[in-house]
Amino acid sequence: MIERVVSPKLKDEDVAIDASLRPKRIDDYIGQDKVKENLRIFIEAAKARDEALDHVLLYGPPGLGKTTLANIIANEMDVKIKVSSGPAILIPGDLASIITTLQKGDILFVDEIHRLSRVVEEALYPAMEDFAWDMILGKGMAAKSIRLKLPHFTIVGATTRYALLSSPLRDRFGATYRLDFYDQSAMERIVHRSARILNVKIEEAGTYEIARRSRGTPRVANRLLKRVRDFAEVRAGGVITKTVADEALGMLQVDHLGLDDVDRKVLEAIVKKFDGGPVGIDTIAAATSEESDTIMDVYEPYLLQLGFIARTPRGRVATKAAYEHLGLPYKERHPQPDDKAQQQTLW
Ligand SMILES: Nc1ncnc2c1ncn2[C@@H]1O[C@H](COP(=O)(O)OP(=O)(O)OP(=O)(O)O)[C@@H](O)[C@H]1O
Ligand SMILES: [Mg+2]
Repeated sequence: MIERVVSPKLKDEDVAIDASLRPKRIDDYIGQDKVKENLRIFIEAAKARDEALDHVLLYGPPGLGKTTLANIIANEMDVKIKVSSGPAILIPGDLASIITTLQKGDILFVDEIHRLSRVVEEALYPAMEDFAWDMILGKGMAAKSIRLKLPHFTIVGATTRYALLSSPLRDRFGATYRLDFYDQSAMERIVHRSARILNVKIEEAGTYEIARRSRGTPRVANRLLKRVRDFAEVRAGGVITKTVADEALGMLQVDHLGLDDVDRKVLEAIVKKFDGGPVGIDTIAAATSEESDTIMDVYEPYLLQLGFIARTPRGRVATKAAYEHLGLPYKERHPQPDDKAQQQTLW
């Protein structure tokens, strides 16, 4: 399997640097200005009333800063945070054993919240809404249900797949924030900040180059920065210039838009095997030997963002920009009745 250096998913190599590079306070969190502004008010108001923060849902593609933001919320609220995830909570009892240790105001961060099982999700409803936990004691005729009172705590949920969340669960969050890909200027600030923390010598043009190839994703930026630093140290006297960044990223087969072989394989499949589409995600998955979930979670959001693919009710189509990027001639399609609806987002 080829290594994907631009994967926005967490890799082992990220863990060590994540801790030092992860912003701790909202003021250090770069970009996502609207989210930050809303969140600041939300937090300040809860603090002024001396109340627990209402439940918060964070969604958006991998590597954009959901976990980081959850920790920042805990820091800003000055409360403890416990971390779990949808797949880790197998039965309602697992949830009970975490929730009953929480104190007023504490945060339970539930990553991949779209992967909670149905029974766990249903047990969560009264906990979120009424701060109550229903327990059945005894069996058969003698069974009785008792209701435990819980302190007011806060769930911060994170998901890459908002569409998979049931509406009763969505409705129980007082605030929902969507994280978007970062723009070039925010990406440059992120690379700059990380380089400073890691003590990396980098020129402005080097920062620019790494930023623009990082798919609008901070996790990718931090990883590419590290890789380019290695290259610079071994081959180029330790300073990251534009040329050094170019060469290093070229060697890693990351093109000037941050696309790698898998992205190109997905685009080429749509273009060459399916005449530009529309083609269903499962068919693309089969044609590329990738999993549909991975395509939807990891590759597609950025290709949509670049405007290289569009979603239609009948499947994905490759746009003119994609043909141009691949260096292939574009055949004008007949206008299709659904084209107006194409640019609907993933979620
Ligand atoms: N706004 C930001 N400013 C600076 N660095 C950031 C920002 N957001 C994220 N990062 C960096 O990117 C890394 C990845 O972010 P994080 O782990 O929070 O992403 P995530 O959205 O939780 O991803 P996943 O969906 O895979 O769980 C962090 O370790 C942090 O260093
Ligand atoms: Mg995360």
